[in-house]
Amino acid sequence: MNKEKEIEKLENIVKECKKCKLYRIRKNVVFGEGNINSKIFFIGESPGKNEDEKGVPFCGKAGKILDKLFDSINLKRKDVYITSVLKCRPPKNRQPKKDEIEKCSYYLEKQIEIINPEIIVCLGKVALNYILKKFSIDVKTTLIKNLHGKLIEFGETKILPVFHPAFAIYNPKKYNMIKSDFKKLKTMI
Ligand code: URA
Ligand code: SF4
Repeated sequence: MNKEKEIEKLENIVKECKKCKLYRIRKNVVFGEGNINSKIFFIGESPGKNEDEKGVPFCGKAGKILDKLFDSINLKRKDVYITSVLKCRPPKNRQPKKDEIEKCSYYLEKQIEIINPEIIVCLGKVALNYILKKFSIDVKTTLIKNLHGKLIEFGETKILPVFHPAFAIYNPKKYNMIKSDFKKLKTMI
């Protein structure tokens, strides 16, 4: 099966998923989208209100910031792949629970396997913790405030932790921090 077919098949499975309670309150599953042949793979945390309504990742406030960050390094959204750890919106945008992550991350795992990216950008701590655990990466600290903007190499895969763009919504200082982390990404592509 080719990549397109594999990802389409997975998306159809996820759209029907009822593995955790979040399925009861979702309007749409937000599977992820973008270029499946891209070498750059972005992982967010979980869909918010706008994403839940449209079924599209990062299409709300945080998404606008992400688009600005892409612009700042001349990267086009259509040239990367974007998804999140959870595919359904937690109520009131609360943090994903451990069991939700455990149940849902199988799909993220499969997306990574099919797309096989060279660079994984972890947007925020939920994505970072998932990736550190998945690759059993031993770091002195797992705190994003210490790891952001620093490349972690794991075999052929490069991992770049950055703050979640949502942090920059009310905090321009954070925006500049994320922007400089994106500059690091620019040097890697
Ligand atoms: N925040 C995320 O982590 N993912 C989205 O898709 C939207 C906002
Ligand atoms: Fe399934 Fe993930 Fe949605 Fe839970 S969050 S219902 S595991 S797709």
